[in-house]
Amino acid sequence: MNENKIPVGILGATGMVGQHFVKFLQNHPWFEIAWLGASDRSAGKPYREATSWRLDGAMPADVRHLKVEECKPGGASRLVFSAMDASVATEIEREFARAGHVIVSNSRNHRMEPDVPLLIPEVNPEHLKIIPQQQRQRGWKGQIATNPNCSTIVLAMSLAPLKQFGITRVVATTMQAISGAGYPGVASMDINANVIPFIGGEEEKMQQETQKILGDFTAEGLRPLNARVSAHCNRVPVVNGHTVAVSVEFERKPSKDDILRALVNYRSLPQERKLPSAPPQPIIYMEETDRPQPRRDAERERGMAIFVGRLRECPVLDFKFVALGHNTIRGAAGAAVLNAELMYSEGLLD
Ligand SMILES: NC(=O)c1ccc[n+]([C@@H]2O[C@H](COP(=O)([O-])OP(=O)(O)OC[C@H]3O[C@@H](n4cnc5c(N)ncnc54)[C@H](OP(=O)(O)O)[C@@H]3O)[C@@H](O)[C@H]2O)c1
Repeated sequence: MNENKIPVGILGATGMVGQHFVKFLQNHPWFEIAWLGASDRSAGKPYREATSWRLDGAMPADVRHLKVEECKPGGASRLVFSAMDASVATEIEREFARAGHVIVSNSRNHRMEPDVPLLIPEVNPEHLKIIPQQQRQRGWKGQIATNPNCSTIVLAMSLAPLKQFGITRVVATTMQAISGAGYPGVASMDINANVIPFIGGEEEKMQQETQKILGDFTAEGLRPLNARVSAHCNRVPVVNGHTVAVSVEFERKPSKDDILRALVNYRSLPQERKLPSAPPQPIIYMEETDRPQPRRDAERERGMAIFVGRLRECPVLDFKFVALGHNTIRGAAGAAVLNAELMYSEGLLD
């Protein structure tokens, strides 16, 4: 262990998102993986034996020998990322927070609880102010913060710079990569040369999470954005990168140039503080008429930026555009690591 780095743990380290955490945290300037947890099927084995490594490139050398532990608090690092199966995350994450751990979770289980921040560091860093209420109400020494669903983050980040114009209605249609369904995910016989117009629970998550993320922190708690959001979610034969076609209506009618300026000039706290995983420019506007495209653009900027293009007037709502983000990086592991960096910079890990 490097004594100058903060030791971190990963719950669900053997799964798809867990592997993305392991990969994303390699050579991190502040954090170092010290503890790995998974089910009792994996506990007791070295990581290299417990895990079928599914990502490009070899399993990082410094985790191969680490022993996988049961998901019980105690021996784990104070800061723990969670990539646990949703069927078990609720209780296990709570148990860790009760025992004093800081849980930065990627699972859906706690996202919509009123005292849990659903955080995008660029968009709603002030939502972290709800943490003391969470600790008071629940009697926890630790805490839970979450990151959004992988398609919600693409929509919410592309809308955030436009909130100043008063968003009233949004219609968002997704084209979501198969990697978003984990491993082995969607059967190849179903998805090859095909589109599946249903992803269980996804539309509700996009609608509710977007309102919570773009809402305000008030003395009474987190107040959701008062806008109507309608999502259509589709699985398409793309490996990585969720594309979202967005139509949006505004209270104060901006011009196309107003919107372009807002998107291109968008910078926020993670950029000001130069957090290690923050993309220098969170939203990259692409002028080409046929971009962004998942195969060509999703991996750029370490998978941490959102790409927007094709901004034009909408004959039904006011404007429409296309947005793209990397679903397992900005939509999962990278999002949680950036959340932890923000929490560290706010002194929440002291
Ligand atoms: N895949 C994505 O792109 C994506 C994106 C955003 C969010 N998510 C969310 O992230 C979470 C993980 O997804 P995933 O695709 O990585 O799933 P996954 O590949 O099935 O991995 C699940 C992990 O949970 C562990 N686990 C299962 N049962 C457990 C138990 N009883 N006690 C302790 N650990 C247990 C597994 O350990 P074993 O290996 O020992 O079974 C494994 O490490 C889910 O909540 C999912 O909704 C996924």
